[in-house]
Amino acid sequence: MSAPISHRAAALSAHSYDDFPCEAGHLDMRGDNSPPLTAEFARPIALPTLAAAGYGDIRGELRLRTVLGELFGVCPDQVMVTGGGSEALWLAMACVSDYSGFIRVPRPGFPGFEQLARLLGLRVLPYGPGAVPGRGRIPVVVCTPHNPTGIVTAPDAAGAGAGWVIWDLSHMSTAGHDLAEFTAGFGSGDIAVFSLSKLLRLPGARVGCLVVRDPELLAALTRAKTHTSMSTSCLAQGLALRVLQDPGVRHELIMRAKVFADHRAQLLEAVAAASKLRAVAAVDGTHLYLETTDGGNGWERLAGCGVIGIPGTVFNGSAREVRLCIAQPQEVIDAAAARVAAL
Ligand SMILES: Cc1ncc(COP(=O)(O)O)c(C=O)c1O
Repeated sequence: MSAPISHRAAALSAHSYDDFPCEAGHLDMRGDNSPPLTAEFARPIALPTLAAAGYGDIRGELRLRTVLGELFGVCPDQVMVTGGGSEALWLAMACVSDYSGFIRVPRPGFPGFEQLARLLGLRVLPYGPGAVPGRGRIPVVVCTPHNPTGIVTAPDAAGAGAGWVIWDLSHMSTAGHDLAEFTAGFGSGDIAVFSLSKLLRLPGARVGCLVVRDPELLAALTRAKTHTSMSTSCLAQGLALRVLQDPGVRHELIMRAKVFADHRAQLLEAVAAASKLRAVAAVDGTHLYLETTDGGNGWERLAGCGVIGIPGTVFNGSAREVRLCIAQPQEVIDAAAARVAAL
C-alpha cells in the first residue's frame, strides 16, 4: 500500500471543458470560441538562442515588462511576468498570507481562487461578488470584470488603509486605458493579477503578470518564482510581446467589445423572457451567470435544450446556476437566445 497523499491534495478538484461534453447539434457556450485576434499567431518565432541558453530574468524580459508597464501605467520594475494568470495568483496568495490564515474570495468565482487557497493551507472566507469586503487583516481577492458573473468592481471598493487586495484583472481589455486607470490609485497593499489567456486569446502561451508597487513584496515574489517556474518561457514571452504590439489587435479588441455587449444584451433579454430563469445583471466580460427560479438544476435545464455551459458548482456556486460564455459566433447567440427564451 502506498503512503497517502496530503489531505490538501486529496481535496483538490479540477475540471476541463471535456467534463461537460458538447454533442453535435448542441451550442457550445462553455468558453470563448472567437477566432484568433491576429495572423501574427501563425508567424513562426525564431528561437532566441541566447535567451534560451540562460534562464532569463526571473521577473520576465525587459521589453515585455516595458509594454505591460505602459498598459498598467507603472514602470517595468513593478511588473513580473508569470506562467499565466494562475501562477500569478498562486505567487500572490502565497506571499501575502500565512499558513492556516484566512483569505476572502468571491463565491461564485474562478475555481482557482478557492483551490489554490486550500492547496496553500489557507482557510477560505467567501463573499458575494457584488459585496466586496473592506481591506484589513485578511487578504481579499477581487475579480473584475468578474468571472463568472460579469459584475464590475471599482478600484476604491475595498476602501483605504492597510491590508492586501489581490485584484484579478484577467478579463479586462488591453485596448483602451482601463488597466492604467484601474491601477492609478494603487497603494502598496494592492496587487494586480493579469492573464494574456483571456481576451488576448493566448491561453496556450501561458503568459500572465503581476503588477506590484511594494518593493518588499516584489522581492518576495521573485524569490518564490525562482523556486517554482524560475523564468517564463522566452518563446512565450516573444509571442506575447508580438501580440501586444500588433496595432490590429487593439482595433479587433475594440470591435469585439461592441459585439460582446450586443450578445450580452440579446441573451439577457432572452433570459428575462424565460419563465423559470434569471441572470446576474452582467455589465462586462464574456460571461453570463444564470439561475433557475424553481430550484431545478441549471446546467441540466440548459443542456436539455442543447445549450452547453459550465455548471455553477465548478465556480463553487449552486447546482441551480450555470455559466454561459457570450464570445460566440452570432448564429450561436441567435439560436441560444431562442432556446433560452422558451424555457
Ligand atoms: C479570473 C481568472 N483569473 C485567472 C485565470 C487563469 O488564467 P491563465 O489561464 O492565464 O492561467 C482565469 C482563467 O480562466 C480567470 O478566468
